[in-house]
Amino acid sequence: MNISKAEYSRRRKNLMAMMEPNSIALVPAARECTRSRDTEYTFRQDSDFLYLTGFDEPDGVLVLIPGRRAGQVVLFCRDRDPEMELWNGYRAGPEGAVAEFGMDDAFPIEDIDDILPGLLESKQHIYYSMGHNDDFDRRVMGWVNQIRRQIRTGAKPPGDFTDLAFLLHEQRLFKTAQELKIMRRAGAISAEAHCRAMRESREGRYEYHLEGAILHEFVENGARAAAYNSIVGGGQNACVLHYTENRDKLRDGDLVLIDAGCEYQGYAADITRTFPVNGRFSPEQRALYEVVLKAQLAAIAKVKPGNTWNQPHDATVRVITRGLVELGLLKGNEKDLIKAEAYKDFYMHRAGHWLGMDVHDVGDYRIDGRWRQLEPGMVLTIEPGIYVSPTNNKVAKKWRGIGVRIEDDVAVTAEGCEVFTDGVPKTIEGIEKLMAAS
Ligand code: GLY
Ligand code: MN
Ligand code: MN
Repeated sequence: MNISKAEYSRRRKNLMAMMEPNSIALVPAARECTRSRDTEYTFRQDSDFLYLTGFDEPDGVLVLIPGRRAGQVVLFCRDRDPEMELWNGYRAGPEGAVAEFGMDDAFPIEDIDDILPGLLESKQHIYYSMGHNDDFDRRVMGWVNQIRRQIRTGAKPPGDFTDLAFLLHEQRLFKTAQELKIMRRAGAISAEAHCRAMRESREGRYEYHLEGAILHEFVENGARAAAYNSIVGGGQNACVLHYTENRDKLRDGDLVLIDAGCEYQGYAADITRTFPVNGRFSPEQRALYEVVLKAQLAAIAKVKPGNTWNQPHDATVRVITRGLVELGLLKGNEKDLIKAEAYKDFYMHRAGHWLGMDVHDVGDYRIDGRWRQLEPGMVLTIEPGIYVSPTNNKVAKKWRGIGVRIEDDVAVTAEGCEVFTDGVPKTIEGIEKLMAAS
């Protein structure tokens, strides 16, 4: 299951069709990054570059030149090198870039300083996402300045820079059938991993044991990396939103919150489940959990075409505020509490984000200052939570240190929505039943 060559070609064509006449786009690949001394972090391609090429090697530059007769799609990439390939793995080289990846033309990356200024010359607009890569920003300016220095010989430097993100990220926001299929699989693998963590939870085991079970399940299924650092927070660690130490012992009577998702074929899943270490919810845990679940279901019900981005979030705020009042954690009138954002002491993040190649995926949330409408093909997370700080002495002691989040991945469809991550239970009965059977 992967993105077809035809789809990559379509993506580039769509982008080029939106570019101004007489323009050029530059999209650099990611570079390898040192982890320690002479070892590198696992290479992760830049999402924009991968989206347009499917080419998973470092140090490339994609150049799109709509209308260029000698070839509109040009890739600079590492040259073949038998010695380097023997040590570090296969390289496609310029020939492979053309033959296997559908580029019109390709050159060794070493030649870019000689060739690229000629391609930039006389172009009115350069589409380039400035400000994300200092090194490449400097090189782009170097190439442009090289042309400026030749003005007196008749050279015409480019007129202006336009952020490529405006065009490209709007396209990435809408997932195609091929992308949805991959994301469905990423969701299913991640859901199964969460089921396994539930089955393997026992008092006295450590948070990292559950992290290990989850990562093992990802890799076993061909998802070689997590889409982000996994969060496994037992007890009050669940109240630290980005807790990733994952080194404490799991204790009888505590909940454990796991936020983990795999990256499969370049696409992220993002799931959170919260469950009792010993398989049985206490009355307080149950009460807060039911509020979060109700909020999550209310938000998912709002995911449909025509509704705005903010409607699911607003639904979570209403359900959570009401629930906290009913349980006595907030006091006052529901409307006033919402207006005063009193819920933010317990629910301090938003209900979700776009999901795609990046876990917090690209795409605008507002258009002309207003929340945008949901449309088929968009994928988002729905992830409300309640976190009662262990030091919150405004609430009864029994609530303190409980943290609950429930997160699913949801695609907008023509009729409403599809949840990609329902392979792992989230009702109290469903969780207790699965854990009792293990
Ligand atoms: N795992 C990151 C998030 O839920 O946004
Ligand atoms: Mn998320
Ligand atoms: Mn998450």
